Amino acid sequence: MWDAIVIGAGAAGLFCAIEAARRGRRVVVLDHSRAAGEKIRISGGGRCNFTNLHIQPDRFLSDNPRFARSALSRYTQHDFIARINAAGIAWHEKTLGQLFCDGSARQIVDMLLRDLHQAGGELRLGVSPGAVTRGADGFTVETDAGPFRAPALVLATGGKSIPKMGASDYGYRVAESFGLRILPTRPALVPLVFTDAQLDAIRPLAGVSVQARVGVEGAKITFDEGLLFTHRGLSGPSILQISSYWEPGQAIRVDLAAGRDLASEAEAGRARGMGGRDLANALDLPQMLARAVLARAGLSGRLADQTRAGFGALHRAVHDWHLVPAGTEGWRTAEVTAGGIDTRDLDARTMQARDVPGLHVIGELVDVTGWLGGYNFQWAWSSGWAAGQAL
Ligand code: FDA
Repeated sequence: MWDAIVIGAGAAGLFCAIEAARRGRRVVVLDHSRAAGEKIRISGGGRCNFTNLHIQPDRFLSDNPRFARSALSRYTQHDFIARINAAGIAWHEKTLGQLFCDGSARQIVDMLLRDLHQAGGELRLGVSPGAVTRGADGFTVETDAGPFRAPALVLATGGKSIPKMGASDYGYRVAESFGLRILPTRPALVPLVFTDAQLDAIRPLAGVSVQARVGVEGAKITFDEGLLFTHRGLSGPSILQISSYWEPGQAIRVDLAAGRDLASEAEAGRARGMGGRDLANALDLPQMLARAVLARAGLSGRLADQTRAGFGALHRAVHDWHLVPAGTEGWRTAEVTAGGIDTRDLDARTMQARDVPGLHVIGELVDVTGWLGGYNFQWAWSSGWAAGQAL
């Protein structure tokens, strides 16, 4: 008999199990994969963007934006940084507060496995859990390696993205079987794709990247980060960020030179006697992009040839490009799942189901989705820590 069963040996499950084991609980972690922490291993281009210096609750999407506050304030990014430092893992800030390992993401996985082992927690890989029942003495999880029983059960099976890395809908199904509500899930932090007609303009630019400001129509939020044109549509950090806020049918707004006014700069150039310059050369954009922007605005020729209305059209084409994505690249490439287990059914302090004592849900399964840049791992650490204190 165990004190707690954790299903899912990812970031949240391992962290929760370590905390509970350190508190003297007999904990077993079950995972159907052959390796633990696979998403940690591949994250951040192999260097794991493990947290962010600027973690704040308003950088997480949820139907209940207040829910994440408790766990994020009780186990903070600074707590995790102290942990990394104590383990001797060197790290650096890349940009926008994003912290990465200097070496390899593998170091984080190794730290978690070492901590779990030292605390006396057990890890059973390659074990597929099935039906879960609850009786007077707690939960029974049927598995292909026999039943596991404990008074506490933690669901930590993560989101739906990248099924070939072990993602499944198991956690949602088990939660639902105990009466927890599930909010609709959708791929988030994911590239946007476009119809063939729109792609005719985008595809020739594949590989071009710019610093852009991207927003979604009807919402105030914008992101000033890189934008990358691809063969399928748009990607890069600014697009991944806005994808979490985008809803089908909505237009996104793109400013290809945020903080500047390229149309006014061009007009000023003409006034300074540079009217003979080709308009495309006068724009401070990658040449291919400049030509595509001018084609979209219906402009050509020299600076001297442009009218007032032409500069207005140029301004809109550069700084206020509206386009309606056909969709996203979906679960195949999404970094995270938005939506999920409804926070109304969970206690924010313990991550325990309000109406099912002993059942906890943590990590990406929960309807809490962070921005790009280490936010989602911090949610995994914080929610895992919170549940670990309550087991
Ligand atoms: P996680 O997915 O880590 O773990 C779930 C575990 O449950 C897995 O081990 C899985 O095998 C197991 N499981 C699933 N179904 C099961 C079943 N039926 N039975 C048994 N076990 C089951 N975030 C960030 O902050 N910084 C970053 O750099 C990145 N980079 C990144 C890159 C890529 C390519 C992806 C896909 C994602 C990221 N993320 C990220 C997001 C981050 O990886 C994610 O939010 C966390 O891993 C979520 O942690 P969880 O523990 O909730 O799930």
